[in-house]
Amino acid sequence: MRFLITAGPTREPIDPVRFISNRSSGKMGYALAAAALAAGHEVTLISGPVCIAPPAGAEMVRVNTADEMADAVQSRINTGCDALVMCAAVADFKPREVRAHKIKKHEGMDRIELVPTRDILSTLALPHDHRVIIVGFAAESDSLTENALKKLREKQCDFICANDITRMDTGFDADANELTLFFRDGSQRHLARDSKVNLAREIIKNCINIAEKR
Ligand code: CTP
Repeated sequence: MRFLITAGPTREPIDPVRFISNRSSGKMGYALAAAALAAGHEVTLISGPVCIAPPAGAEMVRVNTADEMADAVQSRINTGCDALVMCAAVADFKPREVRAHKIKKHEGMDRIELVPTRDILSTLALPHDHRVIIVGFAAESDSLTENALKKLREKQCDFICANDITRMDTGFDADANELTLFFRDGSQRHLARDSKVNLAREIIKNCINIAEKR
């Protein structure tokens, strides 16, 4: 199979030295890429800025902003892939304007006007009668099941991997995570706290299971 995996945060520039971003380390996305490669699949990894060495054998596409990530995902969908795993923590907002020059301290910066970024999964143009398996992630601080099911439906995923970001020992920047997978057919599967490496292997197996049934 050809896997397209996104990882890490995006950075939305304010001026040449400042940006808005989030706490994603990229560990989960890079573990997914490594798991798919280890299972013998082709991987394109579209990565925001992270401090992790690229997995050997993956085609790397490095991006900064949500717009760049959206364009990179769409162009790889257009050239063909079997599964898209949107693990990246895409910034939801970006500054309305990017200043060409560094904003000097004496100028002040009492407000930054933000506009929404493009939602990559919701605006993806998929070929008619496509067979691409779509996997989303849901980072939730409350009403995990309700919010995950809403994203599963609205972003038209085959399954969504939901995690509780209020836990200190899992999620952002940790080596471990705990996930619940919610599937399109209404079933769900809890993956108990484990290393991101082991969880990644399970997620890739679930993609392969769906592909085999198609
Ligand atoms: N996502 C996306 N494009 C965005 C934001 C998110 O494709 N601009 C994807 C993420 O990669 C993830 C899924 O949508 O697979 C859910 O992301 P999440 O941040 O949990 O949810 P949001 O859609 O941002 O919604 P909310 O802020 O209400 O939680």
